[in-house]
Amino acid sequence: MPTPQQPHGPLRSFGRIKARPIKARQAALFDSLLPSISLPSSPFEPLSLMPEAKAVWVEIGFGGGEHLAGQAGAHPDTLILGAEPFQNGVASALRHVEEAGLTNVRLHPGDGRELLALLPDASLDRLFVLFPDPWQKARHHKRRLVNPDFLAEAGRVLKPGGGFRFATDWADYADWTLERVLASGLFTWTATGADDWRVPPADHLTTRYEEKKLGDIAPVWLDFLRA
Ligand SMILES: C[S@@+](CC[C@H](N)C(=O)[O-])C[C@H]1O[C@@H](n2cnc3c(N)ncnc32)[C@H](O)[C@@H]1O
Repeated sequence: MPTPQQPHGPLRSFGRIKARPIKARQAALFDSLLPSISLPSSPFEPLSLMPEAKAVWVEIGFGGGEHLAGQAGAHPDTLILGAEPFQNGVASALRHVEEAGLTNVRLHPGDGRELLALLPDASLDRLFVLFPDPWQKARHHKRRLVNPDFLAEAGRVLKPGGGFRFATDWADYADWTLERVLASGLFTWTATGADDWRVPPADHLTTRYEEKKLGDIAPVWLDFLRA
């Protein structure tokens, strides 16, 4: 089971790790499926998990796993690693993996920053952070997943030219992220016109949180490339 917060690790960037009771069939997948697709807990080379993979992608905060499982189904040659500390979300993702018979998904039922720390330099082709917890109040901004430490780590694990996709429906978090990513000097922003951040990218799959429309703006899509 995930540890809610490392004793001396970064500030917690997520809210609840459990909500409503998990249905028995999904709970059973924690024993029957999760052990076989769990990520190692010490440093590892992603391609050792799927040597035939043509690319390695990571999604941090996959929520119910709809996007992760959808992308895995659409890209069977790609190994997709996901991290999510919310147990109901992990349970839902396990159900998607089982129902679709996906063999190219591996999960860390915990903090995505722990996962990134275990990856070698320049080992990822893409990183997704979709609709992260907005932490709207100024006193909570320090909990936002996107910060200089996170961006340095994202820059370390992405290959040159690798993609980092961020989406939010909170105006302030979009500005916050754009400012910090560009200030990091590690990424270039691919946008050339407003449609590039206003229109969902062609390869995007709608997420559960996105559908709730809880933010204060229509979703903003920021696609960056590792310089
Ligand atoms: C607002 S939800 C969005 C979920 C999903 N991406 C979607 O769009 O439906 C944000 C998710 O990020 C997860 N999260 C927050 N901090 C995280 C971290 N450090 N590592 C992994 N997941 C994290 C939360 O548990 C939550 O499920």
